[in-house]
Amino acid sequence: MELRNVRLNMDEVPRHWLGGRRSVTLFLDNLSTFFPLGERFFVQAANAHRPFVKDPRLEVALRLFAGQEGAHSREHARYNQRLRELGYPVEQMEARVDRLLRLVARVLPPRAQLAATCALEHLTALMAHMLLDHPRALDGAHPTMAALWRWHAAEEGEHKAVAFDVYRAAGGPYWERAGLMVIASLVFWAKVGEHQVRMMHTDGIAGSPREWLALVRYWLFEPAHMARLAPRYLAYFRPRFHPSDLDDQAMVDTWKQAYAAEAVYHRREVA
Ligand SMILES: [Fe+2]
Ligand SMILES: [Fe+2]
Repeated sequence: MELRNVRLNMDEVPRHWLGGRRSVTLFLDNLSTFFPLGERFFVQAANAHRPFVKDPRLEVALRLFAGQEGAHSREHARYNQRLRELGYPVEQMEARVDRLLRLVARVLPPRAQLAATCALEHLTALMAHMLLDHPRALDGAHPTMAALWRWHAAEEGEHKAVAFDVYRAAGGPYWERAGLMVIASLVFWAKVGEHQVRMMHTDGIAGSPREWLALVRYWLFEPAHMARLAPRYLAYFRPRFHPSDLDDQAMVDTWKQAYAAEAVYHRREVA
């Protein structure tokens, strides 16, 4: 794990940057609207359990986790600013996510908040797997956006066990993380559905069966294959599950090589 502090210039990115596909592009734009607030919540939930972390390696990993999520949040905040400028109701969507997370922080005890974090980090790792293991999912994407999503996905693969290990160090039980996974999955997909409708409404395509069909076909089946993630999702419900049971290392390593090869490109982006 390392801190990469990638910065991307999104000025030249077209509105429907994923090969001109409207509802398909909006799905990733939609996910972006959750990250700055969600990742802040994750880091707070994990850091609140720092006193339980006795293993110095996990302590280092926790710091790197916070650093990586901080960099993701920063880039997604700029991404979301771009969406705002394009006319999407990002302010309202973020305000509602913020209210939801504040409610969660009020009603759930700290360890249950960490269990929810583990659940959502697992869902994020599944999506990372989808983007990196089926690279055709980003065919036709504007290079800046492909770089952003692949970087984020690879680092989610790298740090996917950190919150989970902190949860274990804090003595978190199986029933709590399994229960929170059920709740987190339902709430998360309900919110994603809501954001998708709002954003497609802005583009005037919320009532288009063709656009909805294209969206479902693209992300669930071909080329993104999210439906194939079901066994990985269900693995989380095994009492002895650990995120490292699902090997993403080869996928992350392949990205690292591509990232190193593209270093010149990233430096130009920074300038
Ligand atoms: Fe992240
Ligand atoms: Fe993460």
